[in-house]
Amino acid sequence: MSELPALPTLPVLPAPALPCEHELVLKVIPMPADSNANGDIFGGWVMAQVDLAGSVLPARYIRGRMATVAVNEFIFKQPVRVGDILSFFSHVTRIGRTSITVEVEVYAERRAGETGQYRKVTEARLTYVAIDAEGRPRAIVLPEVGGAS
Ligand SMILES: CC(C)(COP(=O)(O)OP(=O)(O)OC[C@H]1O[C@@H](n2cnc3c(N)ncnc32)[C@H](O)[C@@H]1OP(=O)(O)O)[C@@H](O)C(=O)NCCC(=O)NCCS
Repeated sequence: MSELPALPTLPVLPAPALPCEHELVLKVIPMPADSNANGDIFGGWVMAQVDLAGSVLPARYIRGRMATVAVNEFIFKQPVRVGDILSFFSHVTRIGRTSITVEVEVYAERRAGETGQYRKVTEARLTYVAIDAEGRPRAIVLPEVGGAS
């Protein structure tokens, strides 16, 4: 097999500082099919992504079936646009007997020269319930802190 030519040294762009200290749980870019009559992104699409992002941390504790029981708060602070790079950050705010509440913050990196600059577009608080095979709430068994999983 012939040797491949050496690649030129590529310029490496530094990763921009993150806008939030919480865990990055999802990144996604909305497409034109996700837009509303204004040409911005449909709020229901944003809510679906937040619901998915919000489930990531509870899933670590619940380890099985769960359901979203409540969207306790949801604020659309700025419109989301087609092509924005959306970053979803989350943290747990409450662990109850059968439920876990999280906050989710969504930041957009706009296209057209604004990548690396984060604007908060949405914040929300959601609650997820651990459920059994019949769909009834079940107690969450917490792992020992620092122990094996
Ligand atoms: C989720 C579900 C199983 C809960 O059943 P339920 O009989 O209402 O349960 P309970 O009243 O015992 O509440 C269960 C937990 O949810 C919490 N909860 C209930 N309503 C809540 C609300 N509006 N906000 C925050 N937490 C809430 C309770 O405090 C409890 O948590 P805790 O045990 O940690 O204190 C049931 O409501 C359900 O199946 N809902 C439909 C879920 C669904 O289809 N989601 C969308 C798709 S995932």
